[in-house]
Amino acid sequence: MQTIRGFRDILPETIGLWQKVEKEAAHLFEAFGFKEIRIPVLEKTELFARSIGEATDIVEKEMYTFSDRNEDKLTLRPEATASIVRSYVQHKMYASDPVRKFFMIGPMFRRERPQKGRYRQFYQIDAEVFGIESAYIDSQMIFILNELFKRLGLAELSAHINSLGCPECRPKFQASLLQFLESKKERLCENCLRRMDKNPLRILDCKVLECKEALTDAPATLDHLCPACMNHFETVKRTLSEQGVDFIVDRSLVRGLDYYTRTAWEIQTTTLGAQSAVAGGGRYDGLVAELGGPPTPGIGFAIGFDRLVEVMEQITPPLEKSLDLFIVSLGDTAVEKAYLWSCDLNRNGVSTELDFRGKSMKALMKRADKLKAKYVLIAGENELAQNRVLLRNMTTTEQVSLTIEHLVPELIGIIKK
Ligand code: HAM
Repeated sequence: MQTIRGFRDILPETIGLWQKVEKEAAHLFEAFGFKEIRIPVLEKTELFARSIGEATDIVEKEMYTFSDRNEDKLTLRPEATASIVRSYVQHKMYASDPVRKFFMIGPMFRRERPQKGRYRQFYQIDAEVFGIESAYIDSQMIFILNELFKRLGLAELSAHINSLGCPECRPKFQASLLQFLESKKERLCENCLRRMDKNPLRILDCKVLECKEALTDAPATLDHLCPACMNHFETVKRTLSEQGVDFIVDRSLVRGLDYYTRTAWEIQTTTLGAQSAVAGGGRYDGLVAELGGPPTPGIGFAIGFDRLVEVMEQITPPLEKSLDLFIVSLGDTAVEKAYLWSCDLNRNGVSTELDFRGKSMKALMKRADKLKAKYVLIAGENELAQNRVLLRNMTTTEQVSLTIEHLVPELIGIIKK
């Protein structure tokens, strides 16, 4: 049996980096006032269709959707924002305090063509803020991403930012875009032509080379922003500069989901080939109302956890966990004693291994080496007959003889020193 295409195991050998990122992220989110939220993996299909947009790649061709036994249409979540907004509205969180900050870490599912950095089950670290319209929060979200990447030792990432405008300025932009698209009609792919009426903005995100070339001079949202959106974006840029966060204004960045308004961004790397976006996010001031809540601004981002780890693997040597103590026990009495000591040591936070298979001293010492044990405790029959054991420091090769009377506390004292 094998995993299905695009799905993979994350094995203990690589889990160290995942844990390091999780720890750093949770720590940082907490300091910035975010609370963890856990949401279901499965939701009604309608939730994603309405929020991400019917005419997006995700909704049109990438979702894992099926009918439940009672004919409900369900979908494995392709992202977290829609579910977190659903939760905010469902639990009427806006009533007691509209300002909420959440983060979550977990798997998402998209049926894309698998390649390096692109999987059908992948993981995201997601953060969302509700109830704050101020541009400072836009800067803060990008600042948090920047800070997290810095703490993880990643410097070669750049933030691409754009403003997608609001319902006030969007219609004017769309009119100018449609006019432009009409003039390029012969060069656009079928998918783009189909989307012209439904969702012309999506065409700007088309990955087909021919379309990309035809669209190089396409109008940009930045040239059509209303004064309020312009001001908002200026504040984002100014504060990011003041905070020393490098960014590039990317007039062609539109993101692949429909809910965005105003600031949108991606963090890109040049080291992952085609899959350059390590994180993406933006403002979605209309989404809470769209899903039945009161008009409430929202903003968030998601980091592609798999991609982040792949970038880190290129610069960090694998984190190898070493063992505190290996117990070499020779003979049945010694094995039983070793077993009892090891449980006692483990629950006191000393990682311990032993062998139950009656192997020779030589084989056991070899295993201790393989496990990178910092100390080896040798409980041979001769030593035990005198109620003593030997403790060897594997770094210095120094050896001490200890009595077994208060062995566990004594070992804890030495090893945890
Ligand atoms: P997104 O750009 O679709 O945004 O995904 C965010 C990140 O998830 C991407 O930048 C990428 O690193 C990673 N990612 C996406 N698809 C895959 C895949 N198939 N395999 C591996 N990694 C992948 C969102 O999902 C929005 N919900 C972000 C957001 C939160 N906007 C506001 N709040």
